[in-house]
Amino acid sequence: MLFAVICLIIVVSLVSSEETLQPNIVFIVADDLGWDDVSFHGSDNILTPNIDVLAYEGVILNQYYTDTEGTASRSAFFTGKYAMRLGTQGISISAAEDRGIPITELLLPSYLQKLGYSTHLVGKWNVGESREHYLPTYRGFDSFYGFVGRSVDYLTYNLIENCNGADYYGLDLFENREPVFDQTGHLTEILTDQAIRIIRDHNTSVPLYLHISHAAPHAGGGFVNLQPPLDSIEANGYIAHSARRLYAGLVTSLDKSIGHILSMLAEREILDNTIIVFVSDNGAAPIGPSQNFGSNLPLRGVKGSPWEGAARGVAFLWHSSISSKIHDGLFHVTDWLPTLVNVAGGNIPENIDGVNQWDTINSDERPKRLDVLITIDDLNGWAAFREGDFKIIIGNVNRNFSGYYSKELKVLRNTIPSYENMLLECDANRIIRETLDLVLDVDLAFAKRKELSMTYINENEINTEPCVPTQAKGCLYNITADPTESNDLWNNLPDLVRHLTLRLRTLWADMVPRRQPQLDPKANPSFHNYIWYPWVENDEVVLEPPKVPTFPLQVSVDELEYLVDINMNTFRDNLNLYIKDMSKSFIRSVSALFSL
Ligand SMILES: *[C@@H]1O[C@H](CO)[C@@H](O)[C@H](O)[C@H]1NC(C)=O
Ligand SMILES: *[C@@H]1O[C@H](CO)[C@@H](O)[C@H](O)[C@H]1NC(C)=O
Ligand SMILES: *[C@@H]1O[C@H](CO)[C@@H](O)[C@H](O)[C@H]1NC(C)=O
Repeated sequence: MLFAVICLIIVVSLVSSEETLQPNIVFIVADDLGWDDVSFHGSDNILTPNIDVLAYEGVILNQYYTDTEGTASRSAFFTGKYAMRLGTQGISISAAEDRGIPITELLLPSYLQKLGYSTHLVGKWNVGESREHYLPTYRGFDSFYGFVGRSVDYLTYNLIENCNGADYYGLDLFENREPVFDQTGHLTEILTDQAIRIIRDHNTSVPLYLHISHAAPHAGGGFVNLQPPLDSIEANGYIAHSARRLYAGLVTSLDKSIGHILSMLAEREILDNTIIVFVSDNGAAPIGPSQNFGSNLPLRGVKGSPWEGAARGVAFLWHSSISSKIHDGLFHVTDWLPTLVNVAGGNIPENIDGVNQWDTINSDERPKRLDVLITIDDLNGWAAFREGDFKIIIGNVNRNFSGYYSKELKVLRNTIPSYENMLLECDANRIIRETLDLVLDVDLAFAKRKELSMTYINENEINTEPCVPTQAKGCLYNITADPTESNDLWNNLPDLVRHLTLRLRTLWADMVPRRQPQLDPKANPSFHNYIWYPWVENDEVVLEPPKVPTFPLQVSVDELEYLVDINMNTFRDNLNLYIKDMSKSFIRSVSALFSL
């Protein structure tokens, strides 16, 4: 009897100690934040001391790829799958469009919920809002406070959608399923207060997954583009360009928010066992639709293009027990799902594109990911893929979004405040020092900052006509040597071009294609008291995807010979395998080649 009791006690204490080992996860997403718009990347323009302190004390992911648009990146994050497998690639879901992550997919919050986590979304959703079962509380979140569309006005919380020539507008701020009418103030501060409330009310004997998905620094997406809190405009008074100063204000308020969230984690005494991730969903839009005057320099292109400026994102992970470092291996937005499910103690699902990167974050193991599909956009007709050092881009890419932007936005009219003082005096530094006894090593931080700064392109050296892909020829870069995509190697490395083209053709053939956005007049919030409610019944049939469009690069004779050649070699090498597997792959490659 006594033995049984002792056993029971041991079992109980093991179970509970295992439970306490599950870390809390606070995952913070910035919207359309440029590579150049956090100061830890080296820019002396917008200063982000709270973000930077956590980055310097954490693991900086220096080759972190997102997709190139919000819906695509967010759906890849939540499912661990490339967006093109879900039909969520390309331009983001419009509020009047009946589209969402297919309900057959299980999302990260559902996995964590099953592992005992309390799961909360604060802020942006934008992966489906036309049907009730697309909404966050139907997809694994215990609670939701935020907006379901792609962007809202920071002060009225209205979303405005131009639908077939008319402006549809209505409230897009909800608490779970209920519209929020009684709110005033700036959206970034409202979302921060909600996140703080969740941490304050959280039962700390249960692990917490809090996903904070800010609107900032996205353009307001309505009648007014940039609406920072007033005090954060003043803080950026040294920036000469007025739109840039407003954008900087949005970033400053985001940076402050992180200090406030840390403060509540410390007050609840859970900071030491909380993983904090900070990422951008994709690059900034210095020009074009949803222009926010952010900067991706020295990276090329804008949000929504296949260039690095769209897809190479700001990212780091912090936890009190992890040694700080810069991680230079490839990391993709789909990797969060397996990585976080793994640290939460769960089994990693099969048939995903994400790779569990916990070991690469936690120790110095070799990179786990060797390649990444950066984007497939079948409506625009382009694609980009990276393997090792090299990136290939093919298709009909719009030259108008393929340049280097925002240099003129960064002009200063006054002396910039002391970065060192800001780092030392910010909330994050104080809280980490007081709570965890971690003292920021300023010299080390500055050395990291220097290492992370990419040399700005020398405008005299840069090709005046940098490569832009067409149907006849793509572009190829060694990104390690040339992160600014200025030195095209397509004609120099034909074997590599053939190999990468074939890989991209095969991925292209795997996609779930999409249609041009069909905006439905029935979505108009004017029918629902000016609130954006779901307007399609759950059981209404989802349209079958269209046929896979033709791969947007012409087949060369060279490439055809290469394809036949490698398949013949495989045939000779392994007859049995060929019959079982390679014949499938051959049919797939040939189908991809001729878009059958
Ligand atoms: C906190 O969660 C634990 C474990 O589920 C539960 O036993 C306890 O009653 C909860 N405390 C409160 C105050 O709800
Ligand atoms: C690019 O910009 C030029 C000048 O503004 C415009 O005339 C042209 O239509 C644009 N091209 C595309 C493909 O958008
Ligand atoms: C790409 O560039 C890097 C940096 O210059 C170089 O070390 C590497 O060898 C290049 N990769 C290949 C495969 O040529």
